[in-house]
Amino acid sequence: MKRKILTLSISLILISVMITSYLSFHLNMDSLVDQKQGELLSYCKLINKAIEEDLQHGLIIDYGYYAETFSEQIGERVTFVKADGAILADSLMGEDYVNMDNHKNREEIQKALEKGFGASNRSSSTLGKEFLYVAVNLVDNGELVLITRVAMEIDRLDMMGDFLKDAALKSAAVGIAIAIILSIIFAFWLTRPIKTLVEHARKISGGDYTSRVAFQTEDELQELGETLNEMAEKLHLAVEEMEKAENIRREFVANVTHELKTPLTSITGFVETLQDGADENPQIRKKFLDIIAVETARLKRLINDILAISDIESGREVNTDTDINVKEVIEEIINFLEPVIVKKSITVKTHYPYEIYIGGNRDRFKQMMLNLIENAVKYSNENGMIKIDVQKTEEMINIMVEDNGIGIAKEHLPRLFERFYRVDKSRSQKVGGTGLGLAIVKHIVALFDGDIKVESEEGKGTKFTVRLPI
Ligand SMILES: Nc1ncnc2c1ncn2[C@@H]1O[C@H](COP(=O)(O)OP(=O)(O)OP(=O)(O)O)[C@@H](O)[C@H]1O
Ligand SMILES: [Mg+2]
Repeated sequence: MKRKILTLSISLILISVMITSYLSFHLNMDSLVDQKQGELLSYCKLINKAIEEDLQHGLIIDYGYYAETFSEQIGERVTFVKADGAILADSLMGEDYVNMDNHKNREEIQKALEKGFGASNRSSSTLGKEFLYVAVNLVDNGELVLITRVAMEIDRLDMMGDFLKDAALKSAAVGIAIAIILSIIFAFWLTRPIKTLVEHARKISGGDYTSRVAFQTEDELQELGETLNEMAEKLHLAVEEMEKAENIRREFVANVTHELKTPLTSITGFVETLQDGADENPQIRKKFLDIIAVETARLKRLINDILAISDIESGREVNTDTDINVKEVIEEIINFLEPVIVKKSITVKTHYPYEIYIGGNRDRFKQMMLNLIENAVKYSNENGMIKIDVQKTEEMINIMVEDNGIGIAKEHLPRLFERFYRVDKSRSQKVGGTGLGLAIVKHIVALFDGDIKVESEEGKGTKFTVRLPI
């Protein structure tokens, strides 16, 4: 990119500098010739004026002397030509002027004879050198007296031309050098943001999503940079989310494996003991088989809970649009839990203002309520009290399940709804808990677009409040 910009700009610079130098050199040369011609013309006129005055005073003119003197003064060759083309005098030839050809046919003389003055740029056949000639007629009393010609050696003009050429080349070189330096700086300045963008994109593709570009070029490059930043931000979030999901999944799998292993180990252990002869004692056999039955039930519950969670998570839903009679469901659960309630002498108080219905999957709703009420029973002390209160507002149904049981210490509350989270593992396991109940509740509440909150004080009791939109 940088090389392309440099090649392009340097070629443009070279071409334009070459063209301008060429043109300016030739224009300068032309104007130099014009200027010199003008000078020669005024010399001719001055000389003519002097001769004219002498003629008017009736002086006899020594043209040889005049040619020499004027030539010395102006530093150029001076020739006087008669009207018929014969040479009167020539500063360069001196006495030898008599050998010079008739000049009638010389370009400047012809032009002077025609128009009063003439100029030409040609080689002198007398001297074999190139001269710039200017000739002007001298007319006295309406009669052409002579033609004064002043000539300058082209060599001298060429010398000036060389000087001009030299100056043009030097200034072109300086100009090119400056322009090349500027274009290198410009190319660097132009490609720097692109380089930054490339580095940034490379970092992103290498997995560094925190890389951000920040430059203010106020153009499309800045826009591109900002777009890349947004893309990196989005990728970052997506990757983080994926990693989080992956961690949760990994943790879940590890937990599931662990939780399944515990009852399985226990079952295998007791079965082996029985095989080893323990089954001969009927009492021991009964005890062991009972334990195996409890562990198997626990295993079954665990598997059911795991399946329930994955079902809810994957969104596999059945019977979504039933009108659920809230009171009926709660009564069914209380009946189901009756044996434990009676055994622990727990009082259950329910309060429904009137019949309340809610749309949704009845099985899921029941599962949620069962988990909450079962927990209240499970974690209640003997002679405890459980209150179930259902209220209805315009948009919501609020269901409170409150107990005065063992309560939950504050530090456990934020993690309560996580899968497999149990406050007291040994105690919870003793009462048959898997730690999935509240996770399932949370999932079902979300399915109903509702929310759940818990208030608890250790040793005093716990209150769960579920709010579901109607
Ligand atoms: N009403 C409550 N009173 C006191 N502690 C509770 C109550 N409800 C839940 N907990 C605590 O929260 C933990 C998580 O409850 P969760 O229902 O998820 O699991 P669990 O009851 O142990 O097992 P299960 O999956 O069989 O329900 C419980 O282990 C218990 O320590
Ligand atoms: Mg539970």
